[in-house]
Amino acid sequence: MVGREAAPVPPRRSLPRPTGSGLVMRLRMAAGQAPEDFTASADRLRHAWGAHAVHVRPTKPGWLELRLVGWDVLAEVRPPRRRLAAGPLRLPLALPEDGEWHVRDFRTVPHELILGATQSGKSVYLRNLLCGLARQPVVLVGIDCKWGVELAPFTPRLSTLADTPDRAGELLDALLEEMEERFRLIGLSSGAGPDAVLTSDVWGLPEAVRPVPVVLVVDEVAELFLAANKDDEKRRDAMVTKLIRLAQLGRAAGIYLEVCGQRFGSELGKGATMLRAQLTGRVCHRVNDETSATMALGDIAPEAVLAATSIPAERPGVAVVGDSSGGWSRVRSPHLTLDDAAAVCRDTSALAPELPRLAPFRPVVAIEPAGPASPAAVPHTGRPVTE
Ligand SMILES: Nc1ncnc2c1ncn2[C@@H]1O[C@H](COP(=O)(O)OP(=O)(O)O)[C@@H](O)[C@H]1O
Ligand SMILES: [Mg+2]
Repeated sequence: MVGREAAPVPPRRSLPRPTGSGLVMRLRMAAGQAPEDFTASADRLRHAWGAHAVHVRPTKPGWLELRLVGWDVLAEVRPPRRRLAAGPLRLPLALPEDGEWHVRDFRTVPHELILGATQSGKSVYLRNLLCGLARQPVVLVGIDCKWGVELAPFTPRLSTLADTPDRAGELLDALLEEMEERFRLIGLSSGAGPDAVLTSDVWGLPEAVRPVPVVLVVDEVAELFLAANKDDEKRRDAMVTKLIRLAQLGRAAGIYLEVCGQRFGSELGKGATMLRAQLTGRVCHRVNDETSATMALGDIAPEAVLAATSIPAERPGVAVVGDSSGGWSRVRSPHLTLDDAAAVCRDTSALAPELPRLAPFRPVVAIEPAGPASPAAVPHTGRPVTE
């Protein structure tokens, strides 16, 4: 932006409005002024006003939003007190430094990628997400090919936990079948008859026949892409193709993906970038190098990549969230311990909706600490397995 200066006219502005952490006002840019001119001066304003941070964000053509943040809101994040923003498939998950909670809304952003180095806060983010969904009528399904170490504590509330690549393949097959059946249902409902409805997704169906939403959580996606030999490679390719298909078509069928990984680039193998492109929601925790940040946020905004690379190691849980519209912000989720998360999953296990197609995959929870083949092992619902 060499040689560019904002036209020397003050922009028109609205009255400043207080927020939970500072002030916000709207600015109407004068002719010849560009959002970049204001972004560039944000740091000077911050010093001039003695504020913790000043954020400038374009809202609509000609308009900017200027947010002044009084203190370091990310130092300690507590769960949102008002659950106002929460709703079916809508969860306030993380606090941005500049105001209102970042809400994960599966119906607007169906699939999401959570990226970050080890110990950067991915699992804590995922815990918040799973615990939020646990209280809702949502089928939760997990793939964790690290022998289930990450997702095992959530087993009581999960309808399925696939902990090997073979199981994951079978589970994806079942989900694809479920998706096809849902599409048939959507198609049938638009046929002739007094009850005919015209809809292109499950949400348009009458509540009585609407299938329950399914959220598939994949912890460490790289494990799915691993292939040691030629046979493995075939299996891997098949699995990746299935995941891509779910990502491409799942939204309309009410099937959503939440994918975690340390890196997610073309080096993972065939199909990786194609799958990534479908995961439009992005959460990038601290990463070790700029390439990783670019994998998560490169197609969103260059400034977002920069922000992600400057997350300090002593602030785990801080992340940059972005979406395909180009908007992004720095956020942190409340700290949720594994014990608390496991307790939520135990308390809500009875809320897990039935999905007959996944019944054969129902995870088994040992009543007593015993081996997996122990006779004390029963399905988590406590009902006898009827197959
Ligand atoms: N949002 C957060 N707020 C405070 N501390 C956090 C937060 N997220 C993570 N941490 C801390 O960082 C540690 C590592 O986080 P974790 O989610 O296990 O990282 P990852 O799964 O990326 O390896 C956690 O044990 C926790 O102490
Ligand atoms: Mg982890």
